Amino acid sequence: MNLPVVLITGALTGIGRATALAFAREGHRIAVSGRRDEAGQALAAELRALGAEAEFIRADVRFEGEVRSLVEQVVERFGRLDVAVNNAGTEGQLGPITEQSTDNYDSIFSTNVLGTLLSLKHEMRVMLAQGAGAIVNLSSIAGQVGIAGASVYAASKHAVEGLTKSAALEGAAAGVRVNAVAPGPVATEMLERFVGGDQQAKEGFLATMPARRAASADEIAQTIVFLGSDKARYLTGQSLAVDGGYTAQ
Ligand SMILES: NC(=O)c1ccc[n+]([C@@H]2O[C@H](COP(=O)([O-])OP(=O)(O)OC[C@H]3O[C@@H](n4cnc5c(N)ncnc54)[C@H](OP(=O)(O)O)[C@@H]3O)[C@@H](O)[C@H]2O)c1
Repeated sequence: MNLPVVLITGALTGIGRATALAFAREGHRIAVSGRRDEAGQALAAELRALGAEAEFIRADVRFEGEVRSLVEQVVERFGRLDVAVNNAGTEGQLGPITEQSTDNYDSIFSTNVLGTLLSLKHEMRVMLAQGAGAIVNLSSIAGQVGIAGASVYAASKHAVEGLTKSAALEGAAAGVRVNAVAPGPVATEMLERFVGGDQQAKEGFLATMPARRAASADEIAQTIVFLGSDKARYLTGQSLAVDGGYTAQ
C-alpha cells in the first residue's frame, strides 16, 4: 500500500516536531525539514523508531533554490507529495511600531511570507500535476487580529492568510486543498521568546485567554493532521483558529 507522504518545514522544534510525531502515529511517510543537520537526523531517527519511513532534508525556506530542491528530493525519495505543512516561522524582534527597522521587517517577511509563498509554489506544482494534495500553512491569531508589540509578525501572518485563500482558489478545481491553522499561544520556545522568558508575564498573558492556558503543540498538530486527511476533503481556503476561544470574544 502507498502510504501518504507528508513534508513539514521548520520541523525540528515545537509545532513542527509535534506534527511530525502525530503524522508518524498515523502511519504516514515523512520528510522533516529544517536548518540544523544534527537535530534533523535525530528527529528522522526518532520517527523511524516509531515505525515511520522518514527522511531529514535540509532547507532554509527563505531561499528558492533550497525550497525547490527540498520538494524535488521529497518526490525523488517518496515518489509523490500528499500533504505539506508550511510551518517554518519567526516572530523576529518584538516591540512598538515606532522602534521597527527595515532589517526586522525583511527578516520576518522573508521567512513567514516569502518562505510560505516559495513553499506553496513548489508544492503546488507537484500536487496540481498529481491532481491531489493538501497544504496547511501556519498562521496565528496574529493573522486574524492585531497584536500590540508584534505588528510586523501580525502583518506577516495576515499575509499568510491571503496566500492561503488565493492558493486555495487556484488549487480547488484540481483537487488541491489549501488551509491555514491559526493557533493562539502554544507552549513552545516561541511563546517563551514572546514573553521574554518572564514566567510571571506568561502567566498574566495566559490568564487573559478564555481557556486560561496555552495549547500544547500536539493540540495544534491534531488539527493539522485532520486538515491533511481525507476527512477534510471538502474543506479548503479556510483558517481554523485553534485558540481556546480567543477569537470568539
Ligand atoms: N508558539 C506559538 O504561540 C504560536 C502561535 C501561533 C502561531 N505559531 C506559528 O507556528 C509555527 C511554529 O512555531 P513554534 O511555536 O513551533 O516555534 P518554534 O519552536 O520557534 O518553531 C519555529 C521553527 O521554524 C524554523 N525556522 C525559522 N526560520 C526558518 C527558515 N528560514 N527556514 C527553515 N526553518 C525556519 C525554526 O528553526 P531554527 O531553529 O533553525 O530557527 C524552528 O524549528 C510558526 O510559523 C509560528 O509563527 C506559533
